[in-house]
Amino acid sequence: MEKKERIISGEKQESDIVDDNIRPQKLNEYIGQDEVKENIRVFVEAAKIRGESLDHVLLYGPPGLGKTTLAHIIANELGTNIKTTTGPALEKSGDLAAVLSTLEPGDVLFIDEIHRIPKFIEEILYPAMEDFELDIVVGQEGSSRSIKIELPPFTLVGATTRAGDISAPLRDRFGIVSKLNYYSTDELKEIVKRTSRVLEMPIADDAALELAERSRKTPRIANRLFKRVRDFAQVAGEVEITKETTLKSLDRLKVDKYGLDQVDIEYLESLITKFNGGPVGVETIASSIGEEVSTLEDVVEPYLMQEGFIKRTQRGRIATDKSYSHIKKGGGLFDE
Ligand SMILES: Nc1ncnc2c1ncn2[C@@H]1O[C@H](COP(=O)(O)OP(=O)(O)O)[C@@H](O)[C@H]1O
Ligand SMILES: [Mg+2]
Repeated sequence: MEKKERIISGEKQESDIVDDNIRPQKLNEYIGQDEVKENIRVFVEAAKIRGESLDHVLLYGPPGLGKTTLAHIIANELGTNIKTTTGPALEKSGDLAAVLSTLEPGDVLFIDEIHRIPKFIEEILYPAMEDFELDIVVGQEGSSRSIKIELPPFTLVGATTRAGDISAPLRDRFGIVSKLNYYSTDELKEIVKRTSRVLEMPIADDAALELAERSRKTPRIANRLFKRVRDFAQVAGEVEITKETTLKSLDRLKVDKYGLDQVDIEYLESLITKFNGGPVGVETIASSIGEEVSTLEDVVEPYLMQEGFIKRTQRGRIATDKSYSHIKKGGGLFDE
């Protein structure tokens, strides 16, 4: 089954690539995550005062919360270059050596999806992180020897959505470990307002609030919804995005007032109308609505659970009162 691009998914998509101009560049433009921000501000300042490289930083949290953005901001605040790669791109020891050899003193090396780095590459990374040394084996089997290459001091910034998948020895080598949290409605509203200024398309206050409330606590989704609503407004010849246009566009995009989309609604409708509210197994729901079990488990259910629409029990999923007051027994929504 092909993976559908869902507008309310926190994962990065093709259409987000042009996002780069709306990325904040400095810490004071980065909205929310106050604790993380303050810590990083102090550590960066201290590293600059000492003239040393910043300690290695591990950023973790769900997709779309600002890990990549923060990695770039760290380099900007340090006034250094950033080189980026990803865990799965590091297949051979040569791949790691190639990126390490481009580093200048104080630079940031950003490894996204660091939990997907192969184990043997991880082991080459340890001395690189601890002693700024690269130990690599050269030559054929039998006549191979190990050589040491000195590296300039650098800062590794690792990002992951799955902190639990990082081995303890790797995690222990990060001096700074920061968890990014979901954003409040106020913070998301501020992010929408900021994006509106950057893209030079004004948005009314109540419209920005509406977008904030439907963005699943995730900046990437807020920005994506903003851009689609902007399309509707511009085609309608409006110079400012109004709440009315926002409501109409979200309706067209089929994103409801809780930020639920078609797949979420189908899930809940199926649970309520076909299975009497459960308990029912996720496999059964998946086949009844034609979705993959993994999509339901990784993308759909976490948000439904967090927002109190479903509960997971030993015997299967059950619909909560909140679901019953949102979805009619025969299907369809009560309040839209
Ligand atoms: N704290 C923030 N303030 C403003 N915009 C943000 C913030 N965090 C994320 N964004 C926006 O959300 C988008 C997704 O962020 P990104 O750093 O790519 O997330 P992640 O790497 O965690 O998946 C970015 O394009 C950025 O514009
Ligand atoms: Mg990212």
